[in-house]
Amino acid sequence: MPLLFDPLKLGALTLENRIVVAPMCQYSATDGAATDWHLIHLGTLGLSGAGLVIIEATGVEPEARISPADLGLWDDATEAALGGVLARVRAQLPAAGEVKFGIQLGHAGRKASTARPWEGAAQVPADAGGWVPFAPSALPFRNADVAPIALDADGLARVRTAFADAARRAARIGFDAVEIHGAHGYLLHQFLSPLSNARTDAYGGSLENRMRFPLEVYEAVRAALPAHIPVIMRVSATDWVEGGWDLEQTIQFAQALKARGLDAIHVSSGGLSPLQQIAVAPGYQVPLAEAVKAATGLTTIAVGLITDPAQAEDILATGKADAIGIARGILYDPRWPWHAAAALGASMVAAPQYLRCQPSGLRQLFR
Ligand SMILES: Cc1cc2nc3c(=O)[nH]c(=O)nc-3n(C[C@H](O)[C@H](O)[C@H](O)COP(=O)(O)O)c2cc1C
Repeated sequence: MPLLFDPLKLGALTLENRIVVAPMCQYSATDGAATDWHLIHLGTLGLSGAGLVIIEATGVEPEARISPADLGLWDDATEAALGGVLARVRAQLPAAGEVKFGIQLGHAGRKASTARPWEGAAQVPADAGGWVPFAPSALPFRNADVAPIALDADGLARVRTAFADAARRAARIGFDAVEIHGAHGYLLHQFLSPLSNARTDAYGGSLENRMRFPLEVYEAVRAALPAHIPVIMRVSATDWVEGGWDLEQTIQFAQALKARGLDAIHVSSGGLSPLQQIAVAPGYQVPLAEAVKAATGLTTIAVGLITDPAQAEDILATGKADAIGIARGILYDPRWPWHAAAALGASMVAAPQYLRCQPSGLRQLFR
């Protein structure tokens, strides 16, 4: 049996296989509420055969959204919309080989209030449906951006509570796992990186101080969830900028999270600074995941241009990671897990409506 199709435990949760659909913003919500787009999108991913689908960065308060069209989970209306979509998708999926659904809870911090990517992604001013973003310090992402408002003590408490409340709502509507967005230059990463955190209080300066707020958010989320729901932290393991957040600090952060009971870490990179220099190539972030896993022993998800089944299997077989994340590759080919099973000699559970697609000449793919 290929390792890619070996079940994996994330805390008390067992995944059918080690293919994780990485979170992908859809910019298709209305006032934070999920729409019919989410129904077809999550339906498609739910039928993909992946072990875990982590749904897009979901704002824990309205100002946490990257764009005004982002998904949210901050009140009864957003909870009802997303809960309804999840229940309708789940009701159609085969019970055997059940896909698990996780949700990424996030706060965009200074990168909030932008237009959708296909509309240019420029900052949306407050008088055009946007808002002034919050951040650790009043340092904009791009020099031309409006400076964010530095969170004061009340603001920190509000955001912490918003993460915990959203986690409670996620558990209530049936998510199997919660991922905290600590990557890609969004709020928690902004606290971690010395390039975006210039605070002089207990939340800035030393590494211990810069980790304080992200660790508080983790603890608040963990405490808000029942024990059977695992928590994953997504990190950018480096800013790819001299003097920024780096792998060594990431390992210390991961160790602090492990000591607090983190179930898994999802290792990405970059997004904090427009000055980043990234040599993008197949599996370019795998060495970062490998280093975090080796140093901490945490259950680790590697991600980033993992597009080939043999490549994915090799990452697992050589112990570099415990699961692989896939984003663009599964939008392009939503049946990637089936094709991986065919290539590696594994078998899959599929919806009965689809069983007749077994390709002739290929050994039995469906069980
Ligand atoms: C359309 C799109 C939306 C994304 N949205 C998110 C997101 O909501 N949260 C996140 O952590 N990463 C997001 N990402 C990054 C992916 O999760 C992933 O880390 C990245 O695309 C690299 O993996 P890949 O090479 O398999 O695409 C997004 C990527 C794409 C292509």
